[in-house]
Amino acid sequence: MGYLRASLGNRLTSEELQLLPAGFDRVGHVVIVSLPPELMHRTPDIAHALLELKNVHTVALREGAIAGRHREPRLKVIAGDPSTETVHREGGCWFKLDVARVMFSPGNLYERARLPKLVEPGEVIVDLFAGIGQFSIPIAKHAGPSRVYAVELNPVACGYLRENIRLNLVGHVVKPLLGDCSAVAPRGVADRVVLGILHVTHRYLPLALEVLKPSGGAIHYHESVPSGLRFERPIKRILGAAAGREVEILGKRVVKRYAPGVDHVVIDARVGKIECGKSAL
Ligand SMILES: C[S@@+](CC[C@H](N)C(=O)[O-])C[C@H]1O[C@@H](n2cnc3c(N)ncnc32)[C@H](O)[C@@H]1O
Repeated sequence: MGYLRASLGNRLTSEELQLLPAGFDRVGHVVIVSLPPELMHRTPDIAHALLELKNVHTVALREGAIAGRHREPRLKVIAGDPSTETVHREGGCWFKLDVARVMFSPGNLYERARLPKLVEPGEVIVDLFAGIGQFSIPIAKHAGPSRVYAVELNPVACGYLRENIRLNLVGHVVKPLLGDCSAVAPRGVADRVVLGILHVTHRYLPLALEVLKPSGGAIHYHESVPSGLRFERPIKRILGAAAGREVEILGKRVVKRYAPGVDHVVIDARVGKIECGKSAL
């Protein structure tokens, strides 16, 4: 039985108990919960049950999907400390963020731990959609790259990225770049490019190939895709963007269920060198 069902067993009707979410997210001192409309009148009971969890000081309600180009969450504090700025500890890294202003997905936990293990010491990494450093920081901390360029468009997220670089003592490795990756990402430098965004990722494949060294390298391509096309569509898009350059698919995995019938997947691919007379674009 889930925590909420166990702690609210005496207060909610059996119908209401059935409607409780199976889980909730925890980022630093903040718990974030989604509730169906039928349970909104029970928000105070649910919030106070969550506030009783150890080291939880704030409970926030998810009011809608993460939206917009900056991927901003829609949350409302429903109990406890109104501050949603927190420091989240994960995999030996510190992530400072305001959960009401920038995106942090607890469902990507395994991916944040997996990616650094693929990086060879001395590599140059370009993280095109760096956020607060969800991938750049663990790579810098655990994998020994020579340089990580962390590109982020949203000034708020980029501010936290800079703080996280300081908190994790990786300022000698990670270079934050504020701006649209199409404009500010360095070209021809990377052994590995991370495309950690959904919905629009395929539009940035030509850029990712330009960012790789002319000798080629690895890309980590994230996409939200109907479950029926799970790996087929992203692989087809990578092959299409490579325009004849050699491509080896190194790995494919479902990161998480994104929505009913939609998966968040990641494809690891190695793209070969630019052939003379062939364009990558
Ligand atoms: C969904 S978040 C993901 C952060 C991190 N990569 C992860 O997977 O946890 C995507 C981030 O990309 C940023 N972003 C969106 N378009 C961008 C662009 N054209 N150039 C640079 N950053 C961009 C957003 O502001 C947001 O912080």
